[in-house]
Amino acid sequence: MLRSHTCGELRIEQAGTEVVLTGWVQRVRDKGALMWIDLRDRYGITQLTFEEGKSDPHVMETARKLGREFVIQAKGVVVERYSKNDKIPTGDIELNVTELEVLNASNTPPFVIENDTDGGEDLRMKYRYLDLRRNEVREKLELRSKLAIAVRNYLADLNFIEVETPVLIKSTPEGARDFVVPSRINPGQFYALPQSPQTFKQLLMVSGLDRYFQIVKCFRDEDLRADRQPEFTQIDCEMSFVKREDVLETFEGMTRHLFKSIKGIEFGTFPQITYAEAMEKYGSDKPDIRFGMEFKNLNEETQNKGFNVFDQAELVVGICAKGCAEYTRKQLDALTDFVRRPQIGAKGLVYVKCNADGTFKSSVDKFYSQEDLKAWAEKAGAEVGDLILVLSGAQNTVRKQMNELRLHMGNELGLRKSNDYKPLWVIDFPLLEWDEEIERYHAMHHPFTAPLKEDMSKLDSAPGEVRANAYDLVINGVEIGGGSIRIHDRDMQKLMFKHLGFTDEEAKAQFGFLMDAFEYGAPPHGGVAFGFDRLCAMFGGSETIRDYIAFPKNTSGRDVMIDSPSPVNNDQLKELGIKLS
Ligand code: AMO
Repeated sequence: MLRSHTCGELRIEQAGTEVVLTGWVQRVRDKGALMWIDLRDRYGITQLTFEEGKSDPHVMETARKLGREFVIQAKGVVVERYSKNDKIPTGDIELNVTELEVLNASNTPPFVIENDTDGGEDLRMKYRYLDLRRNEVREKLELRSKLAIAVRNYLADLNFIEVETPVLIKSTPEGARDFVVPSRINPGQFYALPQSPQTFKQLLMVSGLDRYFQIVKCFRDEDLRADRQPEFTQIDCEMSFVKREDVLETFEGMTRHLFKSIKGIEFGTFPQITYAEAMEKYGSDKPDIRFGMEFKNLNEETQNKGFNVFDQAELVVGICAKGCAEYTRKQLDALTDFVRRPQIGAKGLVYVKCNADGTFKSSVDKFYSQEDLKAWAEKAGAEVGDLILVLSGAQNTVRKQMNELRLHMGNELGLRKSNDYKPLWVIDFPLLEWDEEIERYHAMHHPFTAPLKEDMSKLDSAPGEVRANAYDLVINGVEIGGGSIRIHDRDMQKLMFKHLGFTDEEAKAQFGFLMDAFEYGAPPHGGVAFGFDRLCAMFGGSETIRDYIAFPKNTSGRDVMIDSPSPVNNDQLKELGIKLS
C-alpha cells in the first residue's frame, strides 16, 4: 500500500509515530511561515502541517505548488494539535510532514468538493465522479452497499439462491414501455431489456430452485419522477410451496431485520389493510400512516339540506385537522387554492371551524345549522379547536383529491417526519383495471397474478370485482415493494390472457414458453420485488432515489456525464438494418 493509515484513522494515541497518508488536497491555508493542508480520502480528513525553518525546504516548495484535488502522498510524524477541532474524529492531531510526493495533479474542480458545495445539480451530475468525492454523497452509496450486503446475508441464511437472469429478453405489451435493443445478426429483430425478471423467476420455480433472489437492474421507459428512474434496481424474490402469509412473513422479517441492523429501529407486526379499506380511509393504495386524519364519509350528515353541490355528489368526505380552528382567512384561501390547482382539480373546499366557545363556523353556514355542523364534527371526530375540511364529487376523483389535501396538511403540520417509519401491507388489490382508452381490462399488477380463490367465480360475470392475491409493502406513503401469489396452472393462465384481450395466438406468441412450462409440474409459487433504490432512499430519509444511485439519469432520462442517449453513426445503423426516416 502507498499509505500506512487512512485519513480518518489517526488519534492522539498515535502521537509520535511516523505514518504515510495518501489522499486528495481539500484545502490549502498558506500563512507564509506556516502552511496547513486538509487531506481527504473516503475515511476522513487529516490536517497536514508545514513550517518554514522546520520542514525540509524541498517539501515546503512542493507544498506551495499544491492545488485543490491534487493527489499526494505525505510521510510525517503524528503530533498533538495546539488548537483542537472537535468537529472531526482526527481533530486532536496533525501530521508534521517530512516527505511529500505529488501522485497526480488536478485541474481546479468545477465546484467545491465539500458538503456545502457551490455546484448546482446539473454541474454536479456532469462531474458525478467529483460529486461522489463529497462525504454526504459517498455516504449514500455506503448505505446502499450495507443494505445490499445485509439483504444477501439474510436471504442466503434462509436458503435463497441468487440467480442471474438475462438482460436481453423479449418485448411484451404489458406494463410500461420497453427499452429495445436491435439484433445485428437477426436484422429487423429486437431484444427488450427486462422491466423485471418476472417470467424467469417463475420458470426457476418450475425448475425446482424453490427459493430465488436477485439484486437486479430493471428497465422501464416511463416518465421520470423523484421515485422513478428508467433503470432501477429490484430485490427480486420468488418462493415455491407458499401461501400469501408465508411470503409476507418472510419479507416482513427481512424488512424488520434491515431496520434493526442498520437503523436500530424495531417494529411490531406490520398492519395489513385491504386495498378497498386503504382507498376508503386514505384515498390511496399507498397510505402514509405516520399520521391519522382518516377520511370520514359525511354523505348522511351533509346531504338533503339544500346545498346543491353536496346533494349531487356521489361522495362527501371530510378530514379533521387537529388544532387548526384558528386558521386565518389567508391560510384557508391557500388551502382552497391548493385543491383547485389543475393537478388536483377540486372545484372548492368547504371548512368547519370548531370554535373554542363550542360554536361552529363554516363556509356553508347558509345551508347548515349549528346542530348540523355538530353532527359533522361528531362524525369527523373533531373537537373544540379542530378544523374540518370537506370535499365532494365523484367517489374516485374526490378520494384522490382528498389524499393530496391530507398529505399536504400532514406536511403543513409537521406530521410526516422522515425519521419516523410506519410500514404496512396493502392486500387484496383488484385483479383487473378497466382501461378507458383501449376499452379493455389490464392486469393491475401483472398477468401472472392469481385471483383470490373466493372471487374466481366472478371472473366471467364481474371481472372488475375480482380481487387479486397481491400485496404491496408501503412505508411512509411510498410503495417499497409489491408481489403476488402466481397462477401456476396453464388453463387458468390462458383464461387470464383471454380476459386481458389476448387472442390464443397472441398469448402463445408472447408467453407460450411460460404456459408450456406450466405443463411440466409447476409448483404453487409466489414472490415479491422490492424497489431497492426506494428502500435506500427511505433508509436515508430522502424521497429522491437519484441520490442513492452512483450514476443516475436526469429528469429527461439523460446521463449528462457520458452524454447519453446519443446518435449512432450510419454504418452502425446500416449494420443493424435500421433506417432512420
Ligand atoms: P412492480 O412493478 O410493483 O413489481 O415493481 C416492484 C417495485 O419496484 C419499484 N419500482 C421502481 N423503482 C424505481 N424506479 C422505477 N421506475 C420503478 N418501478 C418500480 C417499486 C415497486 O414496488 N415483477 C413484479 C414483482 C412481483 O410480482 O414479484 C414487479 O416488478 O418499489
